[in-house]
Amino acid sequence: MKNKLFWRLCAFIGVGTVLLFLALSWLTDHTETSMSFIAQEHQQQLLEYGKQAELILQQEGEAALAIWLQELQRKENTWVAVVKSNITAFAGTVLPSKYIDRFQLGRSVEWKIHLYFEENPTMEIPFSDASSHLLIRLPQRMRPGAFLIYAKVLLQIALPLILLSIFSFVLYQHVMTPLRRLENVTKAFSAGKLEARITPSLPERNDEFTRLATTFDHMAERISQLIYNQRQLLADLSHELRTPLTRIDMAVDFVDQQINPKQALERLRYEASTMRSLVEDSLTLVWLNTESPQLNTDNFDLVELIQVICEDARFEYPDRELITQLPEQGLVKQSSQLALGQAIENIIRNALRYTPEKQQVAVILSRQAQHYHLLIKDQGSGVPEEMLADIFKPFFRVDKTRASEQPLANSSNTNGFGLGLALAQRQVEAVGGTIRAVNYHSDLDKCAGLQIIIELPF
Ligand SMILES: Nc1ncnc2c1ncn2[C@@H]1O[C@H](COP(=O)(O)OP(=O)(O)O)[C@@H](O)[C@H]1O
Ligand SMILES: [Mg+2]
Repeated sequence: MKNKLFWRLCAFIGVGTVLLFLALSWLTDHTETSMSFIAQEHQQQLLEYGKQAELILQQEGEAALAIWLQELQRKENTWVAVVKSNITAFAGTVLPSKYIDRFQLGRSVEWKIHLYFEENPTMEIPFSDASSHLLIRLPQRMRPGAFLIYAKVLLQIALPLILLSIFSFVLYQHVMTPLRRLENVTKAFSAGKLEARITPSLPERNDEFTRLATTFDHMAERISQLIYNQRQLLADLSHELRTPLTRIDMAVDFVDQQINPKQALERLRYEASTMRSLVEDSLTLVWLNTESPQLNTDNFDLVELIQVICEDARFEYPDRELITQLPEQGLVKQSSQLALGQAIENIIRNALRYTPEKQQVAVILSRQAQHYHLLIKDQGSGVPEEMLADIFKPFFRVDKTRASEQPLANSSNTNGFGLGLALAQRQVEAVGGTIRAVNYHSDLDKCAGLQIIIELPF
């Protein structure tokens, strides 16, 4: 689901708030109601006053009752009265008995008391004959709800605060847990732990954080790959530079001791230019690797470019046969003549180099529905199947010893260092094309050479 976290938070906050309000209002109502009744012992006390009053009236008369009432008023610091409640309808009207039964001057002791009235309510305790009643304003000491204010503070301030804090904490944890993991992984990554990833630690979520984690992991993957590649490249480059440097040392010694100084100088020049090309090619490779540039400034004729390269190659390898099958014209738009030229040249030279004398190399270009198809096919030894992908890796050589055996006469300096195809692959990709290598087999299913296939957009 899109924006899953958003909907989860909405549901959590919405439902949580409604439940909180419901719970608080129910609790407040319930507490207030349960605090609105006169305590049981006070109810008993009031009923007792009623009984006593009735008894005194019956046994000692009204005068004694008056004294007792005054005493009670003083004792409870309230107002007390005894009344008769004979209701008589007049002016020809009739009062149904249900009204007479219920007619009351004050409240029964078991009734609920309104807690918000300033003045205490008047309580009514009927005598046994029900026509006389003791009325007493509820003594302050018996007034219920003394703790209402504390209950309200607790219910309306403290409880919401506590509940909202718990609520916020849960929400915070929900959001912070993945952020903390992201922070830890970022720290680990920046401290050099390049294999650190977040997604494996967030399997249960599948929300916006998962998207962030995936994006981070993609970035981490690319950066770590770049760093690994560069480290590898640097290690390989330093390793490859060792051989020409040793040769330079030796040549310098020869010049120093005047042993064949002319040839030693020649060697010095050659090794220096080897090193220059090696470093330049490595830097180009690093640039193509890290920047992934789109080279799209030139429009040119691919056929013409291939013809020029083949002419040079024939000149360089007169003892191999280089045949071409090219269309009349092959216009390419928004490409790079330089990059493509170098790539094709490298591949044709490889083909010629690995093909025995008197054998053939074919360069075949055809225009297909979506792209140009360029095939460079030789009659060399081919490449072991399991290494077909590896030959595009920098400094990879099927035969590792070749570089150090390099003869002085070889015209292309970095030939033999294993950079040619690595560069060619990046260059072809930078103009939007693809490159791959396949062996082809003779009738006897014997490997009869290597084919490099390049596909280029028009
Ligand atoms: N046409 C080919 N036939 C056989 N092996 C090849 C051919 N082209 C390339 N290779 C193998 O692939 C490796 C990498 O090629 P490349 O990158 O051009 O490096 P280099 O030519 O400098 O050795 C070569 O060392 C070689 O082992
Ligand atoms: Mg090469």
